[in-house]
Amino acid sequence: MREDFAPRAVWFWQELVFRHRNILLVQRHGWTLAVVNQKGGVGKTTTAINLAAGLALEGELTLLVDADPQANATSGLGIDPRGQPENLFTLIQALLTTQDTLTGDRMTFSTARPNLHLIPASIDLVGADVLLASQIARETILQRLLAPLRDRYTWIVIDTPPSLGILTINALTAADGLIVPVQCEYYALEGLSHLLQTVDLVRRHLNPQLEIWKVVLTMHDSRTRLSEQVEHEVRKFFGAKVAQSVIPRNIRVSESPSFGQPVIEYAPLSRGAQAYSALVKEVKQHAASCVG
Ligand SMILES: Nc1ncnc2c1ncn2[C@@H]1O[C@H](COP(=O)(O)OP(=O)(O)OP(=O)(O)O)[C@@H](O)[C@H]1O
Ligand SMILES: [Mg+2]
Repeated sequence: MREDFAPRAVWFWQELVFRHRNILLVQRHGWTLAVVNQKGGVGKTTTAINLAAGLALEGELTLLVDADPQANATSGLGIDPRGQPENLFTLIQALLTTQDTLTGDRMTFSTARPNLHLIPASIDLVGADVLLASQIARETILQRLLAPLRDRYTWIVIDTPPSLGILTINALTAADGLIVPVQCEYYALEGLSHLLQTVDLVRRHLNPQLEIWKVVLTMHDSRTRLSEQVEHEVRKFFGAKVAQSVIPRNIRVSESPSFGQPVIEYAPLSRGAQAYSALVKEVKQHAASCVG
């Protein structure tokens, strides 16, 4: 009996690991997502904040990285960008001067919310172009900065500025996947081909695994024909990459930044919050399908 026990125990353990390998892998792999669209005001920051906050609310340890000098993701969480001892710019400066990986503790900031941490931005980040211009491998600075954190967080969500400048290129290089908000407005698709070309270049030269995970329709107003038309065009162009969850134009969403809260925290029952919660689930499902 006893002699039988050891091989049986090994077999049982192997079976358990094999059967649950997807769950084990999902838990161990941290995903980095960048929210990008060089068009201004399309809902990048709103999407980044609510995605990060929604993932944190589901118990997933999440880091939001504010890579936009406007610092809207920082202030949108009720954090004063000017009052922080460290921010993305000071961390980039430190990385460039020490040429060393920075320790995780220096780089993360509590947001007074369970499971949600933040690397804030500040207006100094406008100097990133000049600071990085003379650096070798300047497109990979953010990737190197975040490297020690990738195993620590289940999710890293990067909010990017409305340009395809060096900060956005860094975000594309650091990311596994992209979330592309598209506002349901005139000229919604304008500029997207340029974005796709840039993604393609980054994929070929810097980050072969980069994928568009979800195109998200934002500020959708189902009463207008324009929103319906834009949705139709975007779904025709991007097909299955378009998230099922469409974010409605919703007053609670536009109010929430002035209260320093993501809408899913400020008004969890609002239509905007419900749509973002559904998007969080879709993003998690996508991650599971990447591993499975
Ligand atoms: N679903 C929505 N309903 C109503 N207002 C919204 C919605 N989504 C975003 N907004 C508002 O639209 C404005 C632009 O949104 P946001 O700041 O998220 O865009 P952005 O793409 O990050 O802008 P930028 O390019 O300047 O960084 C903000 O005032 C925001 O509160
Ligand atoms: Mg923004």
